[in-house]
Amino acid sequence: MASLSIARSLFFLILSFAVFLHSCHADPDPLQDFCVADLTAQNISVNGFTCKPPSTVTSNDFFFAGLGKEGDTGNIFGLNVTQGSVLNFPGLNTLGVSMNRVDFAPGGINPPHSHPRATELVHVVEGTLLVGFVTTGNVLFSKVVNAGESFVIPKGLIHFQQNVGEGKALSITAFDSQLPGVLIMPVALFASNPSIPNQVLAKAFQVDDQIVKDIKSKFGSS
Ligand code: GLV
Ligand code: MN
Repeated sequence: MASLSIARSLFFLILSFAVFLHSCHADPDPLQDFCVADLTAQNISVNGFTCKPPSTVTSNDFFFAGLGKEGDTGNIFGLNVTQGSVLNFPGLNTLGVSMNRVDFAPGGINPPHSHPRATELVHVVEGTLLVGFVTTGNVLFSKVVNAGESFVIPKGLIHFQQNVGEGKALSITAFDSQLPGVLIMPVALFASNPSIPNQVLAKAFQVDDQIVKDIKSKFGSS
């Protein structure tokens, strides 16, 4: 009887471990060579996009030129993120990877944000960035990263980059997800739709309502 209950506990332990290991993966592995996304399909998308019929797939579906062009950094952050996710590069569907191009004006900042579905590898191509992330234990890891150097941001953690060099800066960021998702902290907190009530933010940040209103107005929110 005792050995039966030990065997049962062992079975559930192994089962939980298998479920845990599976949930540690980023995007799931593909079950076919490719599944070029049909972004116009009306079918319900369960986890990724419907595949185009393989007979209609061409080499162009596996090609993306979007990261070759410098982005316009004339905005409050001095930043432009050009996304190379499955949404504009359909050949990535089910392959579990994607890349962004991030352009920085001098002093530009990629404000604190997180990607719920991906680890991020930041590779600096031009200039110098201060890159950092904060752990769930509230520890900041940060480093000044120069052209040719890289820094990794563990999955889901809040991170930022700031151009601390003399001129412009450029980085390429790689993700282990076809659609990493992004929560930009100032925007999520101060410009959500509908808006987070002012008294919630005032209490959370220990400031007056007026300061919350001022910050919201910078993001066109009220
Ligand atoms: C940079 O942090 C990016 O998300 O591309
Ligand atoms: Mn990021």
